[in-house]
Amino acid sequence: MDALTALQTRTAAPRLTEPAPDAGQLEQILKAGLRAPDHGMLRPWKFLVVEGEGRQKLGQLLVDVTQPDSEERRQKLLSTPLRAPLIIVAVATIKEGKIRPSEQVCSTAAAIQNMSVACHALGFASIWLTGQVAYDNRVKLALGLRETDEIVGFLHIGTATFSERPVPEHKLSDFVQRWPA
Ligand SMILES: Cc1cc2nc3c(=O)[nH]c(=O)nc-3n(C[C@H](O)[C@H](O)[C@H](O)COP(=O)(O)O)c2cc1C
Repeated sequence: MDALTALQTRTAAPRLTEPAPDAGQLEQILKAGLRAPDHGMLRPWKFLVVEGEGRQKLGQLLVDVTQPDSEERRQKLLSTPLRAPLIIVAVATIKEGKIRPSEQVCSTAAAIQNMSVACHALGFASIWLTGQVAYDNRVKLALGLRETDEIVGFLHIGTATFSERPVPEHKLSDFVQRWPA
């Protein structure tokens, strides 16, 4: 798939199954992530690759550290990582200095988007998720991160279980204007 087609046709897939990208394809996807723009060349990225039994361990970690007060919430935390065969936890490892943390988060977000489009170009699907756990310092510490780090997204990757959703038709004029008019 050519780059413009991939960029213009990516859609999120909420239900994902096997197959996931193989090791070589995953390397291509991660390399696409590493081409995110990066103010100050800080390389503020960390990608935790979670697959196989690691997904059960991630769900259990989320339960253990957040101590959910309802069985429904407990089941959701346990089951969410199982909704895809492969997860990349994309973290902005915020560096102190003149580059704002928000710009380092933007860079990591760009990495997620690059990886999402790379998945699509390779014939896979993905969805970018966050949820409360992404902002929970106890979760960060349990994952070996620092409280100052930001979990920018859990990129769930696999094969879409339904045919891909139609690409929404956006009218450029709703979003774009010439300035000065
Ligand atoms: C920062 C960020 C966090 C998101 N978190 C969630 C989430 O926790 N749950 C969810 O259902 N969708 C979440 N989404 C939205 C999906 O990734 C996806 O974009 C949405 O379902 C719309 O589909 P589309 O990307 O095909 O337009 C998030 C998107 C972004 C950019």
